[in-house]
Amino acid sequence: MCKFFCTFAADFENDVYENQCMSKTSFSSKVGLIMAAAGSAVGLGNIWKFPYIAGENGGGAFLIVYLICVLLFGMPLIMTEFLIGKRSGKGAYGAFRELNGNNRWQWLSWGYMMTALMIMGFYFVVTGWCFNYLAEAAVNRFAGMDMQALTDNFHNVVSNKPRMLGFCLLPLVLTSAVLLFEVNKGIERLCKILMPLLLLLMMLMAGRVLMLDGSNEGMQFFFQTDFSKITPKVVMEAMGQSFFSLSIGMGALITYGAYMPKTQNVAISSIQVVVLDTLVALLAGLIIFPAVFAFGFNPAEGPELVFVVLPAILGKMSFAWFSSVLFFSLLCIAALTSTISLMEVAVAFLREASANSKHPLSRGQSVLITAGIVALLIVVCVFAGSVFDSFDKLTACVMMPLGALGMSLFVGWFMPNQKNMIKGEVGTIKRWFKKIYIILLRFIVPTSILIIFLNNLGML
Ligand code: PFF
Repeated sequence: MCKFFCTFAADFENDVYENQCMSKTSFSSKVGLIMAAAGSAVGLGNIWKFPYIAGENGGGAFLIVYLICVLLFGMPLIMTEFLIGKRSGKGAYGAFRELNGNNRWQWLSWGYMMTALMIMGFYFVVTGWCFNYLAEAAVNRFAGMDMQALTDNFHNVVSNKPRMLGFCLLPLVLTSAVLLFEVNKGIERLCKILMPLLLLLMMLMAGRVLMLDGSNEGMQFFFQTDFSKITPKVVMEAMGQSFFSLSIGMGALITYGAYMPKTQNVAISSIQVVVLDTLVALLAGLIIFPAVFAFGFNPAEGPELVFVVLPAILGKMSFAWFSSVLFFSLLCIAALTSTISLMEVAVAFLREASANSKHPLSRGQSVLITAGIVALLIVVCVFAGSVFDSFDKLTACVMMPLGALGMSLFVGWFMPNQKNMIKGEVGTIKRWFKKIYIILLRFIVPTSILIIFLNNLGML
């Protein structure tokens, strides 16, 4: 822990140096990269999805499997994505060609592009819910509402499709606007201020919730592990959630890795991102579950859990109006820093794929084309709830794990000059760390993903 914070402090000091050596499309500092990557990782997956999936899958039982997945899959895969991006200096489309010297592994980047588009389809819809809740918090609409009224309110929000569409397109416009600028301008500066603020506010909320009568039961639900509840389904969900929450298996961190300052350490950066993301997920659980039990709510309520429970908690805090507006603003921003990274995958893909054609696309054109496609997907997801659900499940439980499997096979087994690259990027902290990384990447990650898949398909 001490090393974690010391490295952060040192990184702040080194910012000046990095500023001097930065290339045009790099983040201007190490902290900038960490905050942007943590901004991508920390989002609705931590605050909205994690508590409701944990609630549906046994609380503590899910938590323990989730943490194991973060260590076994999350850590090595984040390192792998950063390594691919940093070494190639390219987003997913160009990276595999650059590192392999031919197009043989480029199909993976098409899969990443598809995954990014599908995630954006449903992610913007949930971001739209957050913007709607921010607008409602601003006019103090939740004041005096009980749980039933808050539940009804959520259903009204979701079923009012035209209004919803407006609220979903708003973040799409904002995300596109940020992406028109280079990464070291908008996103880096934004994340450096907002991520610490989000953490602080969540800690305050957790403190308030733990003082509620009956919160103990929620703590027990979240931390007590009943091993009999660990089923193949729970393992599959936990694996999917760890991929989704850490933004791995679809090229987002490859794309950010390409903007990594050259002197930045891949292994340490990965540890920092994992710690921050896990901290926020744990805080979200510490806020939601004690409150759920204190208010006599069902933890397995599903996607509406957060949208009903959070306004109720915020209403009980001092400066209720201010706290609600601040919290939903931060939730919107956490979502936006994730949509920015999702969309950047597609934007970088289009630019790289068109680079050698007669009409190479500019950043602006790529942003516009991506925004057009995503707008269509949003319309589909708003009007067809089943598409929304299947995009959500399919990406987290199938496409991201498969994307990660492909990536681990490439770097672990097939990438030319792999030993030197791994030594140069991961082996710089400790030799044993590099050894563990290689064992995880070559053996544990691919075999575990395959076993979990085959098991869930009933083939084992
Ligand atoms: N990690 C984000 C979250 O937890 O909300 C979701 C996400 C963002 C997934 C970016 C993938 C990605 F590329």
